[in-house]
Amino acid sequence: MCGIVAYTGQKDAYPIIIKGLKRLEYRGYDSTGVALLNGGLNVYKKKGKVSELESHLQHEHLSGNIGIGHTRWATHGEPNDVNAHPHYSASKNLAIIHNGIIENYSVIKQDLINKGHIFLSETDSEVLIHFIEDIQKKAQCSLEEAVRLALQEVVGAYAIVIMSRDSPRKLIAARKGSPLVIGVGKDEYFLASDATPIIEYTNEVIYLDDHQIAVISDNQLDIKNLEDIHIIPYVHKLELELESIEKGGFEHFMLKEIFEQPKSVKDSMRGRISAEKGQIMLGGLREYLDKLTQAQRIIILGCGTSWHAGLVAEYIFEEYARIPVEVEYASEFRYRNPVINPEDIVIAISQSGETADTLAAIELAKSKGAVIFGVCNVVGASIPRATHAGAYTHAGPEIGVASTKAFTAQVTVLSMMAIVAAKSRGTISDKVYRELLTAFEDIPVKIQQALNSNAQIKYIADIFKDARNFLYLGRGYNFPVALEGALKLKEISYIHAEGYPAAEMKHGPIALIDEEMPVVFIATKDSSYEKIVSNIQEVRARKGRVIAVVTEGDQLIKQMAEFVIEIPATHEALTPILAVIPLQLLSYYIAVMRGCNVDQPRNLAKSVTVE
Ligand code: AGP
Ligand code: GLU
Repeated sequence: MCGIVAYTGQKDAYPIIIKGLKRLEYRGYDSTGVALLNGGLNVYKKKGKVSELESHLQHEHLSGNIGIGHTRWATHGEPNDVNAHPHYSASKNLAIIHNGIIENYSVIKQDLINKGHIFLSETDSEVLIHFIEDIQKKAQCSLEEAVRLALQEVVGAYAIVIMSRDSPRKLIAARKGSPLVIGVGKDEYFLASDATPIIEYTNEVIYLDDHQIAVISDNQLDIKNLEDIHIIPYVHKLELELESIEKGGFEHFMLKEIFEQPKSVKDSMRGRISAEKGQIMLGGLREYLDKLTQAQRIIILGCGTSWHAGLVAEYIFEEYARIPVEVEYASEFRYRNPVINPEDIVIAISQSGETADTLAAIELAKSKGAVIFGVCNVVGASIPRATHAGAYTHAGPEIGVASTKAFTAQVTVLSMMAIVAAKSRGTISDKVYRELLTAFEDIPVKIQQALNSNAQIKYIADIFKDARNFLYLGRGYNFPVALEGALKLKEISYIHAEGYPAAEMKHGPIALIDEEMPVVFIATKDSSYEKIVSNIQEVRARKGRVIAVVTEGDQLIKQMAEFVIEIPATHEALTPILAVIPLQLLSYYIAVMRGCNVDQPRNLAKSVTVE
């Protein structure tokens, strides 16, 4: 979950590494460290954010054309100066940065302690670099060979970069389960957890694959696998724009990303949908469309917000394509013994494309013969590379830890998939098909209209910012929206919030309602409108404070709720794309007013590459 950056070339490494770490800080931000070769192999590290290390080092002379840097998301040992990366080997000749978890570290550590090794930190990562050095000494081999031998013994996940005092122009990198991208410049190389630290220097990148080791020595790159077989790398051309990873005048990435949604949803549909021609085309599915059409069952896998998008997809797939759908947390699925048949289709959803649980669930489903479709945002990430087919969401880089534009893009793409399946199965009438296509085309403008409630939502946020609990209720397509609204609020404002199907309230949560409980209803004019109106009455009768997201022009709920937030009318199946917008803004403003760091909420990280 951490961010890794490394550089070797002609330029000063330190500014490149620091800038890169800032770009990657969304991945982990509890401590920061850099190692440089400048006279010796020097490590500078500190608990806290990149800017704290930077000001701590402002009077240091930090030259050197080669270096490694890390922002940590602690798994082994609390965030402090000592546990921060990079870590030295026993002789201090080597330094490592590591993203992931070495699961068998304690056995290796005990073995090394028996041999007299002394460990300074509590991390698994320090154990790995001691282990590598120990092997090198014992086998009298090159460092890269020692890395290869060590990694054969290691259980767990890692992206690592190692530098050595004795080889001043060499970096060794390897990955399994955690991402690593190599940027190829002119007489220089970059390594990073994703492409964002690289794009301002070069648009040529190589995605390292699992079980591969990259050795950059004297500006020559050599990649081999753990079996010592050389690999010819494929150089990708990046299309990422630098401005897409900057705040562009907004106070936070999250706010920028919320406001980007008219565009990002349009980008998700671009070239894929035409109401005029009556067409939806998802190029990435073409080869496997028959499989989707003939599927006996669809299993949707994801975590967090992506799982919520999966729940929306369940409703639309079942309603229009008439294929039974199960939506599962990837983390649960991977550790059960799920029944998967070759006629089943798995759809794995992930913004980052790197979520460890989702990746492992895909591998399990694949091993049982299922065809896997991916719905991912980050191009070239591990999940899209592990799936048979899929569709990118094309929402552009999402940097705020709380997912916003990725969710609306996921729902857009999944809904398009469902309609494609429905059309080719003949389970949707021409009339409904055309209505849906038109509704899709209108959605970006309607998102823009939903964003017009910004000032009103800010006002509501101010009234409720000190609440201790929140309840979010919705029915049908809006039930997953309630879950997503609650997740947004808790992850960035630290207010306890729960999402529930509105009808379930009477089976328990109703006991929580009193005059202090804000209840957010997603109560648009759809097939369950009358029912949710009754649920609002039930809350009012117990003095709960109702905030309702309603369809423009709704007069009835206006008389019942303390606050209403209007969104434009759309086709019922597409309501989640609009209804989630006010909930994103509400949690954003509440969090800001409570003084929380919305882009980097405590304990979280953007890309969860550990189980
Ligand atoms: C969303 O706001 C969360 N930070 C989190 O739940 C996230 O959706 C989850 O970790 C899945 O990530 P992915 O989409 O990158 O796989
Ligand atoms: N397991 C390592 C640690 O706790 C690396 C964590 C990370 O990925 O940031 O230090």
